[in-house]
Parts: sequence; C-alpha cells; structure tokens
Amino acid sequence: MALTVNGEERDAPNPRRNLLSYLRYDLGLTGTKYGCGEGLCGACTVLVDGQPLKSCMSTVGAVAGGSIMTIEGVSNDGALHAVQQAFVDESAMQCGYCIPGFIMAAIGLLERDARPSRDTVRQALSGNVCRCGTYLRIERAVMRAAREPP
Ligand code: FES
Ligand code: FES
Repeated sequence: MALTVNGEERDAPNPRRNLLSYLRYDLGLTGTKYGCGEGLCGACTVLVDGQPLKSCMSTVGAVAGGSIMTIEGVSNDGALHAVQQAFVDESAMQCGYCIPGFIMAAIGLLERDARPSRDTVRQALSGNVCRCGTYLRIERAVMRAAREPP
C-alpha cells in the first residue's frame, strides 16, 4: 500500500507498522516526536486529512487513503507557516521537544475554527503536554496566528 505524506506518495509495505515509527524511522521525518508512546502527551501529533491524530496510537493501515501532514510539511517554499511564525514571535519554545505536536494541533484547530476563543484554544491543546511549562506563550502564539492568518 501507499500513503500520502506531506503531499508525496510513499510506500508503506506493512499496514501494521506503528504510524509514528513509520514516519520517524522509515521515512526519516524526525520532527514528529516520541514522548510517552501511550497517547498522553501529544508530542507525536500529525494531521490526517486536516485532523490532529496522535501517531503513536495509530498504524499505517488505519490511515490508509488519508493525507498525512507532519511538521516537515507545513512550511511553504521555506517560508514559515503562520502558526510557526507566531510561536517564534511569542518565544513559545524552550527545549522545543513538544512544539511540533503543539503546532500540528494548533493548525488542525485553525482549519476548523479560524477565530477560536481562548477557551477553545485551551481545549484543543489539552491533549498536548509541555514539560517546560510554556503553556501561556503557546496559547498566545495560537491566538496571534488566528489574528494573522496566512
Ligand atoms: S508519544 Fe504519542 S501521545 Fe505521547
Ligand atoms: S518547550 Fe520543552 S517540553 Fe515544551
């Protein structure tokens, strides 16, 4: 079988392969992070047809036919996505480990709701954990991205 990842068709010979492992180790897309491996931290979040999905909890076969986007696929010809730029502008990163997952969850939210309330942002990001505790800056970054769409 084949999967579409960041707009490219990629071979996926084993439908039972864990999706996060496939992305990181088979395709080399290491921007998607391994945190807990149990669906609890959100570090592994990718978009499948625009919807956030914790890739550690999925298999390749479960997303067959879907269009997968990872953090490597969100910039446009080298220009940062509006959400990425907002994270930079709000200095939302400390160690940065959690950030790809937060950005993917935020992009998924803004595709559903271009002008979310602060509560909606909190709710949408509630499945993502930041051990450095930059939650308020992350929230501000998502609110900023919503004010300044691409
Ligand atoms: S690594 Fe997937 S939710 Fe933590
Ligand atoms: S910035 Fe370090 S875990 Fe979030």
